[in-house]
Amino acid sequence: MQKVILTGDRPTGRLHLGHFVGSLRRRVELQNSGCFDKIFIMIADAQALTDNADNPEKVRQNVIEVALDYLSVGLDPAKSTIFVQTHVPELTELAFYYMNLVTVSRVQRNPTVKTEIKMRNFEQSIPVGFFCYPVSQASDITAFKATTVPVGEDQAPMIELTREIVNRFNNIYGDTLVEPEIMLPDNAVCMRLPGTDGKAKMSKSLGNCIYLSDTPKEVAKKVKSMYTDPEHLTVDSPGHLEGNCPFIYLDAFCTDEHFAKYLPEYKNLQELKDHYTRGGLGDGTVKKLLINVLEEILAPIRERRKQWEQDIPGVYEILKSGSAKAREEAADTLDKVRAAMKINYFDDEALIKEQAKRYKSGK
Ligand code: TRP
Repeated sequence: MQKVILTGDRPTGRLHLGHFVGSLRRRVELQNSGCFDKIFIMIADAQALTDNADNPEKVRQNVIEVALDYLSVGLDPAKSTIFVQTHVPELTELAFYYMNLVTVSRVQRNPTVKTEIKMRNFEQSIPVGFFCYPVSQASDITAFKATTVPVGEDQAPMIELTREIVNRFNNIYGDTLVEPEIMLPDNAVCMRLPGTDGKAKMSKSLGNCIYLSDTPKEVAKKVKSMYTDPEHLTVDSPGHLEGNCPFIYLDAFCTDEHFAKYLPEYKNLQELKDHYTRGGLGDGTVKKLLINVLEEILAPIRERRKQWEQDIPGVYEILKSGSAKAREEAADTLDKVRAAMKINYFDDEALIKEQAKRYKSGK
């Protein structure tokens, strides 16, 4: 069986470091590993509209931002098919069929949906489309016969639901769909990078993000204002690492080589941590190291972005041809699905002949 990746993001804002450690970095590695036969990266604009129906301009503007972020982190359209969800209408059709295989209470139990309903104040009136997005996500995944879905842990309930739908579909209609597996980030820090304010997650609405497209000045300013240890009042007092943003970020990004280059007094992060908890190490030193480490990661991304920004029509071309290619794959799955569901009337000569015969013979 072919190994196929499908994953994607809602175009509701520029991508940030949380996306980078949680998924983008991994995607590029997987892309370049040569271990996968096909890779599909989807800009989930239809899903973004499920909770931004009144703000289509926001979605429209961010499709290109997300595409630029993808290209600038190193996703390569020659190796990965980058496409736009609304331009593969087969996905909507498939979602409609899947809705028959899922109960309302099953979706209501989805913890990610529950959190989002609260966050968006949808408790009193949930748009039906929003409520159904996990089902539509199952169609995104299965339309491409994805075997592997690299996502953050918040997406686990969606993959679980997808697997249930696949099993239910195959049980009822015969073996048709491929059951996908989730691929989580491979270390705990990467699973959830906190915001610069120390809050659980980087989120645009909280204003605690470092964007991949931030300038060096913006990055430095955000790092300098990062939440550290409120009890670490003087350099000499012992510091705490728990919830200390610069250290969590260093956990996610820094290597021993970074120490050799920027802070040779220490061999590695453990030594720096030991000094901090002992007392005698100021937050400024830690933050300065972090700024250097982040710049090393962000500078090439920023550079590539600048180049692609000079060719916006070319980026739209990439999305257009990616969407056409994605559509072929989805159309192939839909042919199989329609046949399995017995709604392929016009392709089924045997059906037409048999019924014609039945009526002719008057039975
Ligand atoms: N739900 C994902 C997000 O919020 C986006 C998404 C839509 C997705 N369809 C998908 C991710 C299919 C993985 C697979 O970012």
